Amino acid sequence: MKPSVETLAISDSIRVLKERKNAIILAHYYQTPEIQEVADVVGDSLQMAQHAAQSTADIIVVAGVYFMAETAKILNPTRKVLLPDLSAGCSLADSCPPEQFKEFIKAYPGSPVVTYINCSAEIKAMSDVVCTSSNAVKVINSIQTDKPIIFAPDVNLGRYLIQQTGRDMILWDGSCIVHENFSIDKILDLHASYPDAKFIAHPESQPHILRIASYIGSTKGMIDFVKRDHHHQYIVATEAGILYQMQKEVPHKLLIPAPSFEDNACSCSECPYMKLNSLEKLEACLADETPEVHVAQPIRNKAVLALDAMLMQTV
Ligand code: 13P
Ligand code: SF4
Repeated sequence: MKPSVETLAISDSIRVLKERKNAIILAHYYQTPEIQEVADVVGDSLQMAQHAAQSTADIIVVAGVYFMAETAKILNPTRKVLLPDLSAGCSLADSCPPEQFKEFIKAYPGSPVVTYINCSAEIKAMSDVVCTSSNAVKVINSIQTDKPIIFAPDVNLGRYLIQQTGRDMILWDGSCIVHENFSIDKILDLHASYPDAKFIAHPESQPHILRIASYIGSTKGMIDFVKRDHHHQYIVATEAGILYQMQKEVPHKLLIPAPSFEDNACSCSECPYMKLNSLEKLEACLADETPEVHVAQPIRNKAVLALDAMLMQTV
C-alpha cells in the first residue's frame, strides 16, 4: 500500500530532525512499515543492542519497547536515549519483578544466572550473562558449571534451550502475550489450505507450536531462513510486523501470518506494546528530545557486565 501524503510529510520531517540533531533511529522488526522506513537500522534485539553499543550519534531513538531503550542506555550511557512512548513495556519483562527474582536466585547458590534480554535493567544487573533469541543456544553452551543454570524470564525459550543443549536449567515462569496466543488448531486448518507452506516459529512460542515447526529462530533468523530456503510459501509464527521486512527480502514468496486465538480482521498477531509507537510520536520525540530513558548508575554498572559478556561472545 502506498503511503499517504501525510505519512510522507511526517517522514520527511523526521529525516530532517535526525540530520539536524545527529540522531539515529533503531527500530525493531515489529514496528509499523512507516517507522521501519524512516529507521537507520531495522533489526532484532541483538542487532539493536550491537548498534546501540557502537553508535556515535548524539541521540539514539529506540523504536521498540522499554527494555530495548534501557539496553541502549546501559551500553552507551553518554548518549541521550529516547523512546517515543514510555508506556511501551513488555509482558515478558513485566513477568519478572526484581524482588521476586532476587529471592528465586537465592534458592540456588552458585548457579549461574542467564537472562533473556527481554527483562528490566534490574534483572540484567542480577545476571551473569544476557542472551537474545539469536544467540541463546551459544550462550548456554558456553557456560561451564556443574550447577543448574538459572534462566529467566521466558519459560518457552527456556524449555527450547533445554531441548537444544541438554543442560540442566531452572526456569522462571514468564511468557510473551503475543507468542502464547497462537492457535494450533487454526494453524493446522491454515496449513490444510496451504499444504506446500513451511511453518516457521519464534522460540517464545509454546512447545506444542514449536513441535510442528520446520524452522525455529529469532526474528532475524526467520528472515535469513526464508531467504536461503528453496520453498515458496511460509506460515510465520511471530509478531506480524516482521512480514514487512521479510516480504522485502523475498518479494516472490508467499508469507502468511500464523493465526492467533482472536478472530481479528487479519487473524494475525500484533504486540500492543510495540504498536504504541507511531510516526507522530517519533516526530514529537525527536523535536522535543523527550521522553528520555535513564538507568540508575549502580544498576547500570552491574547490568553492563552481563550485556558485555553476551556481546563479547557474539562479535
Ligand atoms: P528478537 O527480535 O530478538 O527475536 O525478539 C523478539 C521479541 O519478542 C522482541 O520483543
Ligand atoms: Fe514483549 Fe512479546 Fe511484545 Fe516482544 S512481542 S515486546 S516479548 S510482549
